[in-house]
Amino acid sequence: MEFIWQLIFFLLIYNIYVVNAHLNTTDEKYSKFIIEIYGEEDELLDKFHLNYDFLIHKFEEDALLKKIPTAQYIHICNENDLKEKNKEDIEILILWDTNKINEFYKSLPYLNAYPNWYTNIKKQGKTFCFRIDNVGWKRNAYEEICDSKNKTIACPNLIIVGTTQLTYRYQKEDVANINKYINNYYKKNGVSFESLLNKYSSNDYRIDNNWLAIPVLIDLRILKFNETTFDYCNKKGYDLHYPP
Ligand SMILES: *[C@@H]1O[C@H](CO)[C@@H](O)[C@H](O)[C@H]1NC(C)=O
Ligand SMILES: *[C@@H]1O[C@H](CO)[C@@H](O)[C@H](O)[C@H]1NC(C)=O
Ligand SMILES: *[C@@H]1O[C@H](CO)[C@@H](O)[C@H](O)[C@H]1NC(C)=O
Repeated sequence: MEFIWQLIFFLLIYNIYVVNAHLNTTDEKYSKFIIEIYGEEDELLDKFHLNYDFLIHKFEEDALLKKIPTAQYIHICNENDLKEKNKEDIEILILWDTNKINEFYKSLPYLNAYPNWYTNIKKQGKTFCFRIDNVGWKRNAYEEICDSKNKTIACPNLIIVGTTQLTYRYQKEDVANINKYINNYYKKNGVSFESLLNKYSSNDYRIDNNWLAIPVLIDLRILKFNETTFDYCNKKGYDLHYPP
């Protein structure tokens, strides 16, 4: 199940502007949501209605959302679904993000992706709510997840991690293989996913022929070296070469 969710999510992030929900999204029942904001002690801080604008792929209340002062996690569901079902009975997709408790605005791109994704799932006769947890870098990278024998251990469906941490999670068998999505991307768009990345990134996201993640943000680091030091050492008889 998790695997399926991941595929769909990545599809959305990348095709956000081409997702054409075949449902009539001008129909209010697909654009009305309820968001709940929770604090550090699991306390409900705020709860309000949101209206999604499928033309600009944002909530109409964007300015308000940007100003949310504190959010340990948020929970969002379609309003119509909540009339038909108990909140507890609706499947939930959990994203772990890296921000601090006062930086919810940084999670907004994911929140704004949810209704597009939601309509795609709805088209298949299913539904889901979405939760974004701001757990921070350390827990994102290292915390134990998904233990079938211990339900108190959280089981996020999606985690924002750096590429080095991705390798660590892969070794712990925490990461699903998304080869199928990558192949489908090519079939659907006629462009290989790999060709959209720089060649170094392709290596970062593939291990043992498995695609493991999709880049959201690329952070390049540079290595500087001092030619004088190299030249000096070479003069002294060391066999040192400039880095490539
Ligand atoms: C979509 O829904 C709106 C509002 O319910 C309705 O006015 C419109 O005719 C619908 N469009 C289509 C193509 O069904
Ligand atoms: C389940 O995990 C929690 C949190 O790590 C831990 O405190 C608890 O002892 C675990 N329970 C079992 C039965 O392993
Ligand atoms: C490079 O190394 C030389 C010799 O050690 C030193 O004098 C110089 O300040 C270094 N240059 C920089 C930019 O650090």
